[in-house]
Amino acid sequence: MSAPTSAIESVLVENRVFPPSDAVVKAARVSGMAGYDALCAEADKDFEGFWARLARENVNWSKPFTRTLDTSNAPFFKWFDDGELNASANCLDRHIGTPTENKTAIVFEADDGAVTKITYKELLARVSQFANALKAHGVAKGDRVLIYMPMTIEGVIAMQACARIGATHSVVFGGFSAKAVQERIIDAGAVAVITANYQMRGGKELPLKAIIDEALAMGGCDTIRNVFVFERTATTCNMVPGRDKTFGEILAGQSTECAPVPVGAEHPLFILYTSGSTGKPKGVQHSTGGYLLWAKLTMDWTFDLRADDVFWCTADIGWITGHTYVAYGPLAAGATQIIFEGIPTFPNAGRFWQMIEKHKCTIFYTAPTAIRSLIKAAEGDAAVHPARSDLSSLRILGSVGEPINPEAWMWYHKNVGGERCPIVDTFWQTETGGHVITPLPGATPLVPGSCTLPLPGIAAAIVDETGNDVANGAGGILVIKKPWPSMIRTIWNDPERFKKAYFPEELKGYYLAGDGAVRSADRGYFRITGRIDDVLNVSGHRMGTMEIESALVSKTDLVAEAAVVGRPDDVTGEAICAFVVLKRARPTGEEAKQIANELRNWVAKEIGPIAKPKDIRFGDNLPKTRSGKIMRRLLRSIAKGEAITQDTSTLENPAILDQLAKAN
Ligand code: WT7
Repeated sequence: MSAPTSAIESVLVENRVFPPSDAVVKAARVSGMAGYDALCAEADKDFEGFWARLARENVNWSKPFTRTLDTSNAPFFKWFDDGELNASANCLDRHIGTPTENKTAIVFEADDGAVTKITYKELLARVSQFANALKAHGVAKGDRVLIYMPMTIEGVIAMQACARIGATHSVVFGGFSAKAVQERIIDAGAVAVITANYQMRGGKELPLKAIIDEALAMGGCDTIRNVFVFERTATTCNMVPGRDKTFGEILAGQSTECAPVPVGAEHPLFILYTSGSTGKPKGVQHSTGGYLLWAKLTMDWTFDLRADDVFWCTADIGWITGHTYVAYGPLAAGATQIIFEGIPTFPNAGRFWQMIEKHKCTIFYTAPTAIRSLIKAAEGDAAVHPARSDLSSLRILGSVGEPINPEAWMWYHKNVGGERCPIVDTFWQTETGGHVITPLPGATPLVPGSCTLPLPGIAAAIVDETGNDVANGAGGILVIKKPWPSMIRTIWNDPERFKKAYFPEELKGYYLAGDGAVRSADRGYFRITGRIDDVLNVSGHRMGTMEIESALVSKTDLVAEAAVVGRPDDVTGEAICAFVVLKRARPTGEEAKQIANELRNWVAKEIGPIAKPKDIRFGDNLPKTRSGKIMRRLLRSIAKGEAITQDTSTLENPAILDQLAKAN
């Protein structure tokens, strides 16, 4: 926690309220605030009984659990831990023999617009066949498998096939570099990689397999026995004999039946790396039972899913949103979902709206950064405005990944939702596994920019640095006071860091989310004010400032010192700003531009293109206290272009502020 509570103040007062219509309330699964309050009261009265009931109703257990929650080794909580299940069976087999078996599970739209549909029955057959292929290559329960795949049906099949045999997957987003892949292979000790030769995005064919080759060539990846390659395009790629095999090769002759392997409820379904306050990403480890319960339950609660819905979550499977609301939740709930390979601006910025019309999407879930960039595009070109598409199929809209500014909320509400669709602004994190603070569409009156209230059973609160509750209206630190089924179980290979990062002693054993928040004085609604640690949110991508700093200073021939901060950006939410001191004289003019580009490319190589700093400013040194601490709050002001009003009397070198402010 680097920022003091006093720095997190509420400046925004929002008076607009949008209650759900009577018709929506009437039809909803959780109907009206009375429905919400009843669930909260049930959780209050008998916390464990509440979760046990929901876990029995929503999850198919191959061996029923008898213990609901084990707190004996807190904060390493265990849920339903003597129960056994299989996640893939809970997403696929459960629908066999029901009318859902012949329902479309996935409507896949490729980058070029080609559409492929697959039913639940067909998906089960393909997952089973792939699971058999993995088994034939010695992949077994407990092994880790790294997945580096484009948004495709095959990406979901790869994840589900791992789950089917009890292997733990670690999906790495395609925007990460070879170096990032290598680090994740080593940390997880993965035995195999599942990838594609290329991915298609915006009409371009981009290499994936070549990046895996580069990662494996960096060394230290001796645990990898095989690389399985989906041939997304006809272009060939390098294949290492013996190690690398195409999907075609490994699937040939494999049966389309494969019994799901039961695992204990606490068995790690997946690891997903995310950024924290240090240079090293954290391998967030999730369970099978509690996680799956959440994926299924929140499809029903937050999206009020119905049998005839066409659900579309635009997130990539490389992020937690693509795990819970693409690969697991919609399938566990028996939904028809859209998966889109491409980008929202190709062939034009009306693509999302055109796809909603074409596939008659009813629930649309995307990120504020996408909304903001599409607002910009629509305002500049009427041809890509949502008004050009028939969006009347929509009934619920969702937002995720960062705070949505009230202006963007209002535009989304009016132009996409036709002033008729509730917007669920879902607050959650890689660590929470699924939604934790969110409106329920048929219950919660909406306030633009607010994620409103915690889900039933989620003990979210706002506290000061000593863990005491603050009054509504006052800013503070967001915590969750009690465990919940889908919470992070540990950091892979680093239980000590797990305890320190998420359950700091001074916070009375509460889960520390890492965000600042404020509750409204009138309704007690939560509004997230942003991270309080050194984590940035750029286009909904979570980036650690320390990671980017480490990447910059690892360019040892050039960089002496670097400090990275965020600044607000209209489209991406936050933008990355780096202040750099070189090992040579401070560059200016053309030379500065050229070195800045060199450094951007270096960061892209070290972490990935998503981590490239937008601004790079060079200085003779950095603003430091006499004890040598970099004063980042001053850098944040400079990055924003603000005049410095803070006290600078403790600065060793006040003149540097002026230099950095002009260095743009
Ligand atoms: C961080 C988690 C949740 C899945 C995608 C991001 C921010 C997320 C909201 C929201 C305000 C939000 C928080 C959080 N965040 N959703 N609705 N309102 N802020 O997952 O990469 O783990 O990032 O995203 O800062 O801590 P993630």
